Order: sequence, then structure tokens, then C-alpha cells
Amino acid sequence: MAIILAVESSCDDTSAAIAINGEIRANRVATQEVHARYGGVVPELASRAHQEALVPVVQAVLDEAGLTLAQIDAFAVTAGPGLMGSLLVGTSFIKGLALSLNKPLLAVNHMQAHILAHFIDAPRPAFPFLCLTVSGGHTQLVLLRDYFDFEILGQTIDDAAGEAFDKSAKLLGLPYPGGPLVDKYAALGNPKAFAFPISKMPGYDFSFSGLKTAILYFLQKQQQHDPQFAVTHLNDLCASIQHTIVQILLHKLQAAALDLGITRIAIAGGVSANSGLRQALQQLASAQGWELFIPDFQYCTDNAGMIAMTAHLQYERGLFADQLLVPDPRLPLQPKPQA
Ligand code: KG4
Ligand code: ZN
Repeated sequence: MAIILAVESSCDDTSAAIAINGEIRANRVATQEVHARYGGVVPELASRAHQEALVPVVQAVLDEAGLTLAQIDAFAVTAGPGLMGSLLVGTSFIKGLALSLNKPLLAVNHMQAHILAHFIDAPRPAFPFLCLTVSGGHTQLVLLRDYFDFEILGQTIDDAAGEAFDKSAKLLGLPYPGGPLVDKYAALGNPKAFAFPISKMPGYDFSFSGLKTAILYFLQKQQQHDPQFAVTHLNDLCASIQHTIVQILLHKLQAAALDLGITRIAIAGGVSANSGLRQALQQLASAQGWELFIPDFQYCTDNAGMIAMTAHLQYERGLFADQLLVPDPRLPLQPKPQA
């Protein structure tokens, strides 16, 4: 029996969670609103907002689980990838608690946690399975043989899928983060209204920067004779952009699944909250006979529940971190040798 307190502060969400024997008992997220007016995450403001939100968020999960700090068996934190300042706030805080209470420390890779969020609730995928992780900073196609034994088959060579959503939204004049707004307006539009190019990358890699440029040039051309074009065609533009991003993602996912003969498929990360992606994936899965795993909405975008789940699996395997842990903004996703 292990009680783990986990903190996630890699970008612009401050989150804490409690896992009791691998079961998530509390998971709270404080989303930073301060960035909307700047059109993107401002790292210095993010660090300061984490400092303000961390103690109340941690106290809230302790209260919800009916626990005190003295009852925590191990402390877990996101060690990267992410923004250095943001990571430093979370890691310093958790290191302080672990050290002062003389309890072990668990360092979690954020991208690994997005994938392992699938083990929080049933149905949990059996191994091996293929996971498409689509977030604001990463797009990775990963073959999982076990929790900590996997292979990255492909990834983006430029923008991440979430960035493609957010940058497209910005071109349409929508505030940050634009992904959820594109999703909202796309539901009212025609996905075939405008055709944007689908990048052709070798293997299982992805590319989204060409799409952003194509949208920019298309809008500039239309706005020459209709300055209000992006406003009057917002729904159709969002639907067409979303359709293109979903096609790019599903094309590679399907190719990998066929090549490897894998029929257990999962998606993870913030963009897996996208309704167009979820719907298209469900259709593809039933056509292909896939067993499909889509996380609950609360575990798609950044949350400490997934950090607590991953930390629990590390705890069981004795995969502890050094008390002097230094976060790494570019922490690579690497298999962990079994202890
Ligand atoms: O995983 P996440 O919360 O943070 C990172 O690790 O980056 O992902 C955030 C990304 C943002 O780019 C956001 O716009 C996108 O996920 N996102 C969405 C939706 N919800 C979040 N993109 C499209 N449709 C959504 N419903
Ligand atoms: Zn994330």
C-alpha cells in the first residue's frame, strides 16, 4: 500500500493528485488564464502563477482525500519535458517535501505519463499496443511492449499537433489556446469546404508546418477581396483545418498499425480531447476491427493524475529518483530498465 502525492507544473497548468495504491483519489487542475491576452504561454508568468497556485492545489487534494502530509509515502513530480521555470517550481516544491519528511522521490516523464494515463481507469489496454500521443509540445507514435518498455516509431519533425491547432486558430483571430475553440466551431462547419495539403513524410514521422503556411497564404489571398473572410467563414475554416490535422494523424497511425499487425490502439495528450479526432478514430477503429482506448477528458489535457499513476508504477518497480533531481526541459522519452 503506497500513498503518493504528485505535482505537475510543466507548462501552464498547476495540478496535484493523490494515488492510493494506484487508484486516483483526488486530481485538481488550476489552469492559468493569464496567458490568453498574450496569444501564447509566457514562461516567466507561468512560473509565477505556478508559485501562487501550487500550495492551494496541493492542500485541496489532501483535503479531498482526507490526508495530511505526514501520511504520504512518496512524492512525485514531472521532471520534463516542459518549460524550465515551470518545471523548477514543481520539482523544488516536491523535493523540499520529500527531503523534509524523509520520503522517496519519483521523477516522471510528462510524455510517458500521458500514455500511462490509460491505466488510471478501465478499460486498460493489454500489451502490446500502439499509442498516438498528441499534445501542445509533442506528437509521437509509440509502440508499448510494457509500461516502461517501448519504442518511438515516429514523431513530428516541426510543429506538434496541438501547435498546429493553436497556430491555425491564431491565424483565424482566435485567442490562445485555440485548439478547443477550433473544435467548437468545427462542429458547425463543413470539413470539405476548403482543401488544405496533407503532408507526405517518410515512415511514421509527422509534419504540420506546411499546413500553417498554406492556411496563412490562403487567408491572405481571400482577405484581399474580402477582409472579413475569416470571420464569415469561421466554422468552415475550423472544420476544414481540423479535418486536415486529423487526416495527417490517422494516416500515419493506420499505416503503423497495418505494418506492425497491431489492433490495440490508444490516443493520449491534450489533442485527444478533440471531438473530430475522437469521432474519426472511432469510425476507423470499427472499420479496421481495432480495440480503441481513448482517455477520459480529465486525463487528456495536462493533469497530475497521470503523473501519480506513472509514479505508482515506478514505485512498484523501485524506480526512484535522486533527491537532488534537476528537471530537464528536453527530457527524452526513453525506456526504463527494470530494477
Ligand atoms: O497535453 P496538453 O494539455 O499539454 C501539453 O503537454 O502540451 O496539450 C495541450 C494542447 C494545446 O495545444 C491545446 O490547444 C490542445 O492540446 N487541445 C485541443 C483540444 N483540447 C486541447 N486541440 C484540439 N481540440 C481540443 N478539443
Ligand atoms: Zn501534456
